[in-house]
Amino acid sequence: MSILPIRVLGDPVLREETKPVESFTPELRQLIDDMFETMNAAHGVGLAAPQVGRSERLTVLDVHGERHVLVNPEIVEREGTLRWEEGCLSIPELYGEITRSARVVVEALDGAGKPVRVEGTELLGVCLQHEIDHLHGKLFIDHLSFLKRQKLLAEWETEKPHYPGLIRIVVAGTAEDDAHDDEKL
Ligand code: NI
Repeated sequence: MSILPIRVLGDPVLREETKPVESFTPELRQLIDDMFETMNAAHGVGLAAPQVGRSERLTVLDVHGERHVLVNPEIVEREGTLRWEEGCLSIPELYGEITRSARVVVEALDGAGKPVRVEGTELLGVCLQHEIDHLHGKLFIDHLSFLKRQKLLAEWETEKPHYPGLIRIVVAGTAEDDAHDDEKL
């Protein structure tokens, strides 16, 4: 397994539509393993393929030890709304409170191509919505009001120089636990 470089805000790959996965190859299995390792090293709870520069419609989640591999996921039910403070492994250090559905049901395939159905509320529900957004080129900042988005983008201008080439290298065991660990999606 290896830790992959994470693409950060400004890299066009984060704005691209992904392509549905059609075959479940050893290469896909390898990508899934590497994405889990990358996400765990970065203390994230979710990671989508575009965040590591890939175009597969694939995301992995690890919400309080509950792990999911979701290939070609689709939200099939939504209910209610909630406000939640979100961050993103591709927009380090910046957070914003946005409105999501309070409960979602997702249908997908797992890493072996078997159909799965996942229901999520609170952090799992938010994470499902955030990661599926990534698979369609959408970021949490798109859900902020215009003024809040402008403020966050201005802050990003001071963070961005830490990531030459818009690449974030995570080294295993060096990320420190912090109060935001549940918000790195
Ligand atoms: Ni994210």
